[in-house]
Amino acid sequence: MKPDLLLTKIGQLATLAATNGKPKTGEEMRELSIVEDGAVAIKEGLIVSVGTTSDVLSQVGGESAIPQIELPNMMALPGFVDSHTHLAFGGSRENDFAMKLAGKTYMEILEAGGGILNTLRATRAATKETLTKNAFSFAERMLSEGTTTVEAKSGYGLNTENELKILQAIDDLHTKLPMGIASTFLGAHAVPPEYEGKTDDFVELVIKEMIPAVAAENLAEFCDVFCEKGVFDVEQSRRILLAAKDAGMKIKLHADEIVQLGGAELAAELGAVSADHLLMTSDDGLEAMLKAGTIATLLPATAFSLNTEYARARHMIEMGLPVALATDFNPNCANESLFFTIALSCYKMKMHPREVISALTINAANALNRADTVGSIEVGKRADIVVLECPNPEYLAYRFGINLVHTVIANGEVVHTKLGP
Ligand code: NIG
Ligand code: FE
Repeated sequence: MKPDLLLTKIGQLATLAATNGKPKTGEEMRELSIVEDGAVAIKEGLIVSVGTTSDVLSQVGGESAIPQIELPNMMALPGFVDSHTHLAFGGSRENDFAMKLAGKTYMEILEAGGGILNTLRATRAATKETLTKNAFSFAERMLSEGTTTVEAKSGYGLNTENELKILQAIDDLHTKLPMGIASTFLGAHAVPPEYEGKTDDFVELVIKEMIPAVAAENLAEFCDVFCEKGVFDVEQSRRILLAAKDAGMKIKLHADEIVQLGGAELAAELGAVSADHLLMTSDDGLEAMLKAGTIATLLPATAFSLNTEYARARHMIEMGLPVALATDFNPNCANESLFFTIALSCYKMKMHPREVISALTINAANALNRADTVGSIEVGKRADIVVLECPNPEYLAYRFGINLVHTVIANGEVVHTKLGP
């Protein structure tokens, strides 16, 4: 067997291979299954051999004529999985920033027609091609920072035509980038102006028209709802998510981001794959998630951009909840870099850098139901690998907030590298 590409002499190769694809919990989150002087052989986009350099070389029949990249003193990890983003939208929101600085809250800005409603206007006015172009440029930056799988939500169209346009724009990314892309229908992201004061009627539209249209074109793997005071309450969220489940979508939820509304309990009740944000979740809500096996996806860059308290990551890990991390990239939290999220996770949520690595790889892959193909470096998985200029996991917290990428391999292709010619 002659591979297409060999990575060898990797200082620390963190394979994350020990869980049989399950998310890591508790103490396991610090175990990364590290091979020193590691190597990976890649063929046709897949990993075909993993181990020490000498083992892999003897397995693939020596090194002659195989393109080889030597990576001493570096750490290689499974490509990062960013499992919660709002990637496709029109316009930008620097104008809201003046209101933020003047002390207005997220909900006050939304009620004043800013926030999501500001982006709604720009997104409705944009063509599908413009949305694809915008999403492409954000996703490309993510890729350059080591993200090889990204989830992308709709939610700035808020009527059938425009929600479909956003999901089609996301779908078009598949052919343009070597990243894995998971799409989520978030038609219940806000109540659009034409339904002001008629939230239940809008919920009917989501259930009767949008979900069937999205399902008919097979445009979304997941359905998500912004379950929040003043947006969609628990009962409205339940109805939407049950309809999406019936239409074959898996479920995610924006839960307890701004007030404690019972979103975590609802996510557990409905068997959601993940409940996301969880800034205000009660102990009972977390217990319910633990029993249901719902992944806790934490988004510290949002807490930073809202200037609020961070989620109780330590408590969640200690009680045994599987924790994933993501950027929540959106026009209110316009940062694609998981290195910023990593810094906040360590410094503000007191996560250990090893826990952070598990949260961004195998656990995040589980949050997208993709642990069979990504999230660890194992034979048969997609060759998605990020190599960092970083000798050990602890260094990742020490050199905070900067892009430490040396090489990114996505679907077997070297898409970024600092190697000279
Ligand atoms: O996850 N809160 C709801 N949705 C996003 C923000 C979207 C926006 O403000 O455009 C979030 O924080
Ligand atoms: Fe979000």
